[in-house]
Amino acid sequence: MTELEALKERHSVRNYLEKAIEQEKLDALNACIAECNQAGNLHLQLLADAGKTFNRLLNRAMGLSTAPSVIAMVGPEGQDLDERIGFYGEKIVLLAQTLGLNTCWAGTFNAGNVPAQIAEGERLVIVIAIGYGRDTGKAHRSKTAEQVSNVTAASPEWFRKGVEYALLAPTAINQQKFRIELKDDGSVNFTDLGGVFSKVDLGIVRYHFELAKATKD
Ligand SMILES: Cc1cc2nc3c(=O)[nH]c(=O)nc-3n(C[C@H](O)[C@H](O)[C@H](O)COP(=O)(O)O)c2cc1C
Repeated sequence: MTELEALKERHSVRNYLEKAIEQEKLDALNACIAECNQAGNLHLQLLADAGKTFNRLLNRAMGLSTAPSVIAMVGPEGQDLDERIGFYGEKIVLLAQTLGLNTCWAGTFNAGNVPAQIAEGERLVIVIAIGYGRDTGKAHRSKTAEQVSNVTAASPEWFRKGVEYALLAPTAINQQKFRIELKDDGSVNFTDLGGVFSKVDLGIVRYHFELAKATKD
């Protein structure tokens, strides 16, 4: 499965099998995480044992407590930390999908129980549940391209595709509070319209857009 196919097939999964992720796949994920940490100045950590990360009542009710593993999305505090977390985290999410795994970004988790290393000056922004899903999730309801961008019939194909794939991105409570504008000089502006974790959302959306732009269908 290509990364673009993974982008189209990915949905959040909240119920997992009691099946550990094989070492080979953990190695592949860790290699990608090391690259992301380097490129994005981050301290993302794959925890093969999620421990009590998801022991909150809400997580148990949603099923997330069944996730065997978790990725702790940690990085040095700074202005664009949340957006970088979203951008590189989605790269890992799509790799996981190509490996036959399922994921769910999760803002609700027990922060005190995440067995991650968080150095001074770093922040645990969010986590990603990961494992073998009991199901593959389902397509989310979506805004239209016109609602989130300045796309028109005259827009170039790459922009239209970018917006289309941006709309497939996971966003917190499916809020899709972002705006993508193609400028006259050909540059693209991404704006976050506020809301919970909207900067993480924006990074995720930008990853989808840029992947679409860089890849042929
Ligand atoms: C930043 C962020 C935080 C999220 N937090 C949670 C969460 O705490 N619990 C949960 O069940 N889903 C969470 N999600 C998953 C969203 O609900 C989901 O992405 C959205 O409904 C769209 O569905 P899809 O991912 O299947 O496309 C989160 C997603 C993002 C991007």
